[in-house]
Amino acid sequence: MMNYTRSLFNCVTQKFIQQRKIKIFNNHRNYSGSAILGIETSCDDTGCAIVSHDGKLLSESLHSQNLMHLRNGGIIPDVAQDLHKKYIEPTVNDTLQKAKLTMQDISAIAVTLRPGLALSLVVGMKYAKYLSRLHKKPIIPIHHMEAHALAARMHHNISFPFLVSLISGGHCLLAVAQDVNHFQLLGQSMDIAPGEVFDKVARRMKLRNIAEYSKICGGQAIELAASKATNPHVFKLPLARAEYRDCNFNFNGLKTSVIYQLHRKEQDHNIVADKLILEVNDLCAALLMAVSRHLVHRTQRAMEFCEQNNLIPKDNKQLVVSGGVACNNYIFNALTYLCGESDYKIYRPLPKLCTDNGVMIAWNGLEKWRRSIDITTDISKLDIQAASPLGESLINEVVNAKIPTKLMKIKI
Ligand code: KG4
Ligand code: ZN
Repeated sequence: MMNYTRSLFNCVTQKFIQQRKIKIFNNHRNYSGSAILGIETSCDDTGCAIVSHDGKLLSESLHSQNLMHLRNGGIIPDVAQDLHKKYIEPTVNDTLQKAKLTMQDISAIAVTLRPGLALSLVVGMKYAKYLSRLHKKPIIPIHHMEAHALAARMHHNISFPFLVSLISGGHCLLAVAQDVNHFQLLGQSMDIAPGEVFDKVARRMKLRNIAEYSKICGGQAIELAASKATNPHVFKLPLARAEYRDCNFNFNGLKTSVIYQLHRKEQDHNIVADKLILEVNDLCAALLMAVSRHLVHRTQRAMEFCEQNNLIPKDNKQLVVSGGVACNNYIFNALTYLCGESDYKIYRPLPKLCTDNGVMIAWNGLEKWRRSIDITTDISKLDIQAASPLGESLINEVVNAKIPTKLMKIKI
């Protein structure tokens, strides 16, 4: 009886979805295709990927601007835009070729429209619109942070709702993912993101003067240097926002503190020009530990808030960690320790899916496609948004809850 009711329900739902799809696509003369093409250009990576309707990754292509920005000392928006313009077409063509598909095999184009660098976003949007008009395909607009949050569902069996920590070069936030298009924001950075701290500190430390760090991003360089530390505790770094009972973050103080201690050591030992301080590995490790402590402390409170407000089911507590900084094993292990103590399961996407890529955009497109949401044929109204908060804000509710949290001793 149960099964019969369920299959009847599924049947009705399928029919409803079919009807909606027909309604959505009845303007499209040549609607066809069995895969979603995803385009990502929100920052400094030109990414493209194709995911089939049954969730298989058919191909991907990524052009990273990392080396250019390492040379320039950071991302220069004009330079990023020029590189996106240069590489968008070859990247999309390469993706189609690798999958042995043409645009006729594509059912919709998912593209990041928000948030990000305006000059970068606009390149992806214009190219997606061009493809859409040329091949009569609908567009699925994607929120970059939602895509980071959902990417782990591609390879792990993670059901809604789940807690998500998004840590990258541009963002730091804690949210509950209730569904593909329903997020509740619990806290976010009040200044800069942890990835930006790593990138700026690595540069100030002159890590790229050492051959093994010269071609990798600041975060990776700091993780590698920290793994060689012998005495990180000589550097004392503060726990940010300890007095605020919320889930927001601050990283500027930490960055200033590290740069101050670096400056002191350089003066003490007369370090000049392209030379590094002797204690560089210890300072990297101290920074990594301080960032981890701050992330763990806020995540502890977010877990408590979810418990008090029944936002996460008690028998299926899940934390997803994503964004470029989630590649960091020390940080992930610290959060894993917290999850072990709090009865949470922890997940992160594959490392190459933690950093910016086209796969997470195609995947998010598929998640929306399966639910028939945001599939747009009226593309003239689509536009980019450089700033765009994630979901509905529960930040005030978290502040008002004033949940006390004692930082747990992290044993890794
Ligand atoms: O998600 P992402 O590719 O771009 C943004 O949306 O920001 O993240 C890039 C950031 C950079 O700041 C980079 O230094 C950081 O992720 N990152 C890492 C690691 N790998 C990348 N940070 C710490 N440890 C890593 N292993
Ligand atoms: Zn990102």
